[in-house]
Amino acid sequence: MKPSSATQKILSQIKKPIGDELLEFNTFFKKKLETDVALLNIILRYVTKKKGKQIRPILVLLSAGMCGGICRRTYNGASMVELLHTATLIHDDVIDSAKIRRGIASVNSEWNNKIAVLVGDYLLSMGLLSSIDSDEFKFLKSTSKSVKAMSESELMSLDKSKKFKIDEPTYLKIIKGKTATLMASCCEIGAISANDDTHIQEKMESFGMNLGMAFQLRDDLFDYTSKRSIIGKPVGNDLREKKMTLPLIHALGNCESSLSSKIIKSIKKGKLTKSEISKIISFVNEYGGVDYTQILASQYTHNSKQLISSFPESKYKSALEELGDFIVQRES
Ligand code: IPE
Ligand code: IPE
Ligand code: MG
Ligand code: MG
Repeated sequence: MKPSSATQKILSQIKKPIGDELLEFNTFFKKKLETDVALLNIILRYVTKKKGKQIRPILVLLSAGMCGGICRRTYNGASMVELLHTATLIHDDVIDSAKIRRGIASVNSEWNNKIAVLVGDYLLSMGLLSSIDSDEFKFLKSTSKSVKAMSESELMSLDKSKKFKIDEPTYLKIIKGKTATLMASCCEIGAISANDDTHIQEKMESFGMNLGMAFQLRDDLFDYTSKRSIIGKPVGNDLREKKMTLPLIHALGNCESSLSSKIIKSIKKGKLTKSEISKIISFVNEYGGVDYTQILASQYTHNSKQLISSFPESKYKSALEELGDFIVQRES
């Protein structure tokens, strides 16, 4: 499935300043994925048939545009982050036992877990290797940090989820590692490709970190607010997988302890029915979990805009600001 039409419409507006560059990026990216291993070729073609929103390469290109100009190095950086992102999605679907990704069967469900792990590893190594091939050690440092943070966070999330002991600071630490760090890396890499000023590079890293926090907060809201037909993955999957995200954490902390014990007990028991899931979704809405999470996401977007406010006005800067608005309002 492609991103929903509302999402595509807003994104196409945001992509306007980098239309040609994105086309060039897509060619560059496709070339990187050619291999002689037949099965790998089939799977890579399957995976890249559904492009997703391409937020990360968009961030690299727009950041480079705003910080001095898109160049050859920028494309390299953009394809690196998209390779790493694709790898982590394939691994994530194994970890989460997710059957659907981008509206079609996930690699683990179309093939199996073993194949998904190996294809994910292949893409990860391709991503890191492409920075070495082009002597981009700063890219390598930035993305390696992200890959490390992602693995740590996925492990922390598994460990804490099992114990049902996630509080808000722990949750924020997890989403920073699993999502925000890579987005920070995208913006930093875009800046590095276009400008040698380390203050600018650091500022862009913080910009991306704030956007990434908003992005994952909004993503975690989908489990409580969306429809599968819009987001291209099942609603209630976090609950089924016993994954505690902020809407639920906040609602549980906002109600009487007898009620929160009851809810936790039903999630722990597992095998939730549709009606149990609906009840938990209503509970989370009623006890302010959805509103609270949305407000926090907006604060992160606000912070991100503050961070780039001192840059001179440009079409790239406006598009990055619009991307921030999209991230907290998106429906898919
Ligand atoms: C999904 O990211 C993983 C998260 C960090 C929530 P995206 O929603 O950007 O995935 P695609 O690339 O558009 O499918
Ligand atoms: C996103 O995590 C995957 C990574 C950031 C590695 P989630 O499990 O929350 O996202 P979806 O719902 O599978 O896209
Ligand atoms: Mg997942
Ligand atoms: Mg996950």
